[in-house]
Amino acid sequence: MDPSVLDDIAKSLEGIDLSIGSIDGIQLPQITCDAWDIIQNFQAREDDILVATYPKAGTTWAHEIVDLILLEGNTEKAQRAPCFIKVPFIDLVLPKPAKSAVEVANEMESPRLLKTHLPIQLVPPSFWEKNAKVVYVARNAKDCMVSYYYFQKMNKGLPDPGTWDNYFSSFLSGEVPWGSWFDHVIGWWKARDKYQILYIFYEDMIEDPMREIRKITRFIGKNLSEEVLEKIKEHTSFKAMKENPMANYSAFPSSLMDQSISPFMRKGTVGDWKNHFLMSQNIVFEEEYKQKMDGAGLIFRDLLP
Ligand code: A3P
Repeated sequence: MDPSVLDDIAKSLEGIDLSIGSIDGIQLPQITCDAWDIIQNFQAREDDILVATYPKAGTTWAHEIVDLILLEGNTEKAQRAPCFIKVPFIDLVLPKPAKSAVEVANEMESPRLLKTHLPIQLVPPSFWEKNAKVVYVARNAKDCMVSYYYFQKMNKGLPDPGTWDNYFSSFLSGEVPWGSWFDHVIGWWKARDKYQILYIFYEDMIEDPMREIRKITRFIGKNLSEEVLEKIKEHTSFKAMKENPMANYSAFPSSLMDQSISPFMRKGTVGDWKNHFLMSQNIVFEEEYKQKMDGAGLIFRDLLP
């Protein structure tokens, strides 16, 4: 990778507009709103693979797995660039001199691996026109909320989350960047049979990573040996990714992501919400959850493994 790419990103971030705007009632970074036409006109290709998630659901983990499946387990090639460069995040269009994710993607060879946090109704239509494959990872709301709270603390590109109590209310009402967790997971769930969407769960990945890696491999249409699958599992374990400078965002400008506040690879567990939710919050949450998830047919596991 040309090291000037990182310098350009750092320069682009200087003086960048960090405010939050909205598109169709969904909070999004203002720079995303400003580039909305460019994002909506993104030209997908038939053999694209899009990793789609609500923020903090395990995006980085999933796209590292997909990248290694496409590379048939070649871990050296997987180290070709930091994850935020090798997997364009199509929701963000940084100002010059950095190349926008859309520009980077346009110059990439197929098959491309791309990332989005957009709710399904805001995904660029060409993904559906081309019938591209999507790996959607869902994570239980409580752990997502905790992970997002710490992420908003350390990521200066997102609003300060305020107190845990305030954040709890904002998250429940969907007043956070990329909108409501409920609408996101349900929207993608409803569309899973209409398009080529593999809907998987973070909790299942934690419980049995090999099973989920096999599932993704089949979905992508690859046939890999047990030895290769095992290698992919090892390379994408939490410990390995936490120590991997290409996966742990340590290459990202610290002016934007201050990992001394909270590391990007924070805990990587199921059930950390139990260390944060007050009993009273859990009661409010469960009530709201029942109402919002009623009839969706979508079951999450947030139990400790
Ligand atoms: P925690 O904050 O709960 O630790 P995203 O990539 O969507 O931003 O998600 C980040 C979350 O996924 C963080 O959760 C991070 O620790 C976790 N994560 C990243 N890589 C992981 C891995 N290999 N195994 C388990 N969890 C991982």
